[in-house]
Amino acid sequence: MTPGRRILLIVGGGIAACKLPELVRLIVRAGGGVTCVLTRAGAEFVTPLTLAALSGNKVHTELFDLTEEVEMGHIRLSRAADLVVVAPCTADLMAKMAGGHADDLASTLLLATDKPVLIAPAMNVRMWEHPATRRNLDRLRADGVRVVGPAHGEMACGEFGPGRMAEPAEILAAIEAALGEGPLAGRRILVTSGPTHEPIDPVRYLANRSSGRQGTAIAEALARLGAEVIFVTGPASAPRPRGVRVVEVETAREMRDAALAALPVDAAVMAAAVADWRVEAAERKIKKDGSGRPPALRLIENPDILQEISNHPMRPRLVVGFAAETHALEANARAKLARKGCDWIVANDVGPGTGIMGGEENAVTLITAEGAEPWPRLSKAETAARLARRIAEALA
Ligand code: C5P
Repeated sequence: MTPGRRILLIVGGGIAACKLPELVRLIVRAGGGVTCVLTRAGAEFVTPLTLAALSGNKVHTELFDLTEEVEMGHIRLSRAADLVVVAPCTADLMAKMAGGHADDLASTLLLATDKPVLIAPAMNVRMWEHPATRRNLDRLRADGVRVVGPAHGEMACGEFGPGRMAEPAEILAAIEAALGEGPLAGRRILVTSGPTHEPIDPVRYLANRSSGRQGTAIAEALARLGAEVIFVTGPASAPRPRGVRVVEVETAREMRDAALAALPVDAAVMAAAVADWRVEAAERKIKKDGSGRPPALRLIENPDILQEISNHPMRPRLVVGFAAETHALEANARAKLARKGCDWIVANDVGPGTGIMGGEENAVTLITAEGAEPWPRLSKAETAARLARRIAEALA
């Protein structure tokens, strides 16, 4: 971070506020200046003294502190920053922001600011999934507010699901990206994702169970580190990633054309579950012919996009392939690395019972020329964040 970038950090009330000292420490260590504002509820979880000591700045708590208005009015406070961050951002703070309320210092600052705003929501999973919160989130995004997290996992209240505040390191990465200063700023990265659909006739197609979630999470994680991401996706069920250029395709051949059109790029992450074969498709809908004999489908091999990119004259500096295996994970992944000519393979076991294909979590092994690194079972977002950090290190 360029030294002297100023962050106004609004601390909402929630158990995640106990992670705030760590966040302040990370921002300060990265060279940023932090001024904290504590909501009344936030002050129940973290003390003003802790935040003042770590930030080296006065912590603001009340709107109608007259001496404070003399020293620095709330309007000035909100404008003196380069970025306003709300962490943890409670459901109530989101509602206030979406509704334009200004009845305490935090909400007044958020309404008065002319600077970019980043929120790190944290709340119970039911509150996060409530239609009112969904509505507020859509409104905030439409207003240009950036959002980091929430992560998936066990909550302090004992429930499980999305709602945990993003980890401080991830919030710091989002801060740097919002300031245009991530480690991948200025890098172009291609990500392929989702299944492909291969037509059988004009109304039917062959497909696979890929949801596109892992590829989507990777595209978002790379964008959060500042990369310009070109996201080429087949017809996936996962919502499209934010902050990236999306190119929608259907077939493997369309995906290949879109991927090659994106070159040159600094790195390519080929997370798509591309169909290996397409059907020699009929131009008209195939009808039952009354003979009782089913039609035979003739399959033709599809282009291998990963192999083509890995051997292209404009080969990206780093090419990452994926290997979804149901057995002999490492041996198969190593063979694939050699066969395709890519630099890394992210291998995962998608055997029955793992719940990985289409699920929320992933357990991958990263295969590089140096060896195999098994990663713990993590949410797809955390797996993506970890891979994005590794890519940033490799391109540094
Ligand atoms: O050979 P296999 O399909 O297991 O290899 C998987 C890897 O190759 C993934 O990274 C996938 O995106 C890529 N691939 C591709 N084009 C194909 C088949 C696979 O880019 N036709």
